[in-house]
Amino acid sequence: MSLKKVQEKCLDLEKVCLVCGKSDISCLHPLFVGGLCNNCQVGYWESLHVMDDDGYYMYCCVCGGGTKLLLCDNQNCCRCFCTFCLDVLIKENVSCQHLSISPWLCFLCIEKSRHGFLIRRDGWFESLNSFVYKDFSTKDAEIMELPAVVPLNERRPIRVLSLFDGICTGLLALKKLNIMVECYYASEIDLEAICVAQVQHSHQVVHIGDIRKIYDKQLLEWGPFDLVIGGSPCNDLSIVNPARKGIWSSDGSGVLFFEFVRVLRSCQLIASCNNQFLYWIFENVVSMDRASKATITHFLQKDPVCLDAKQISPAHRPRYFWGNLPGMKRPMFGLREDTVLTLQECLEPGRTATITKLRTITTNLNSIQSKCIHDTRSLGLTDDVFNTAAQRNRLDSLWITEIERVFGFPDHYTDACNMTRLGRLRLLGKAWSVPVIKHLFIPLKDYFSSC
Ligand SMILES: C[S@@+](CC[C@H](N)C(=O)[O-])C[C@H]1O[C@@H](n2cnc3c(N)ncnc32)[C@H](O)[C@@H]1O
Ligand SMILES: [Zn+2]
Ligand SMILES: [Zn+2]
Ligand SMILES: [Zn+2]
Repeated sequence: MSLKKVQEKCLDLEKVCLVCGKSDISCLHPLFVGGLCNNCQVGYWESLHVMDDDGYYMYCCVCGGGTKLLLCDNQNCCRCFCTFCLDVLIKENVSCQHLSISPWLCFLCIEKSRHGFLIRRDGWFESLNSFVYKDFSTKDAEIMELPAVVPLNERRPIRVLSLFDGICTGLLALKKLNIMVECYYASEIDLEAICVAQVQHSHQVVHIGDIRKIYDKQLLEWGPFDLVIGGSPCNDLSIVNPARKGIWSSDGSGVLFFEFVRVLRSCQLIASCNNQFLYWIFENVVSMDRASKATITHFLQKDPVCLDAKQISPAHRPRYFWGNLPGMKRPMFGLREDTVLTLQECLEPGRTATITKLRTITTNLNSIQSKCIHDTRSLGLTDDVFNTAAQRNRLDSLWITEIERVFGFPDHYTDACNMTRLGRLRLLGKAWSVPVIKHLFIPLKDYFSSC
């Protein structure tokens, strides 16, 4: 109806919601000439952050929905368009013609910008940026800090420095998003973690040892980096550990945070000397005392966001993230049809979960019954891991592959170097939740090339 009025020149296309066709819009559509009404705006915004395991956006970038989708074959684009939008906005049945074109380049990637009522917005990249991130950067300075737009054909693979790397969760998340990685330098001292990383990502990861022995000379040689990531050991910061040494004690692990700050500062300097922007994130537990949180915030000059894996996975795992990735403050959504949200979905056939989600640390220390449970509990896994699956009516512990699935790792990811079950649990207990890291890294797809 509204489009008819536009055709008759009684109505401006900018005043029509491109999703539902109503004419009381609340903002402009970021990508195409037209608007979004109040109702459609929220759903559209959420759809912009949902990607499948091949790094493709899951929903049509015109309407934020769609059942039959055309995927753009430009590997740096990864956006898709639904046949319904094409048929309504361009011409009836035009989608059939497009479906037969291979490779197919989308309406953001081809030169021609006007197709019927589907008119690409000039400067769509900037308007997308502000549509996605404006509400979630509290300070103007943070919006100003967002780096300049990188046109599709100028994007290059990302160069990463991962500190306290553990089992290479950062690299796994980048790969799952199909972001091309030029190099991935990992500082780690745990031999079993290094072994897992080497087995899983043999050609891509360069292990560089103890963070305390990384000096500017090496950083100059390896850098400049585009992304520095890391979560330092938390056992001396977490209030759950009564014997914690805190952040300042020179014989504890809390003080390693300052090594992160030191290396980050050097990398920032090297990046800025090369006119490059450096993205970074630092992660730690929410169960730290207020003074430590304030100290970290002071040194990193950013407020943390708290992200809990429970929103997009079957485990409670609230963590603080400090950093400068675009859109870090946006909420997480588990919109994808195939998002794994319950423990049951991670179990082998024939086994039944007795709870829906795994808990993180509980403080009821009286319930610690065995050394085994104690060790795992202090690492962030609870006795949930132990009586949580039932098989033929008998309680059983979770299998390691099942726990790997809970945290978003592929089956048998930690099955390396003949490691024991407890060894694998120990590494998983310290690791990041893969879907959460993917959530944080999605915006990087707009700056670096995809494969
Ligand atoms: C909280 S875990 C990080 C786990 C990681 N984010 C992951 O997803 O697997 C902290 C890591 O820092 C490592 N670490 C401890 N001291 C270190 C040091 N001096 N240099 C480098 N890594 C260190 C530990 O071995 C541990 O794997
Ligand atoms: Zn609408
Ligand atoms: Zn659509
Ligand atoms: Zn495209």
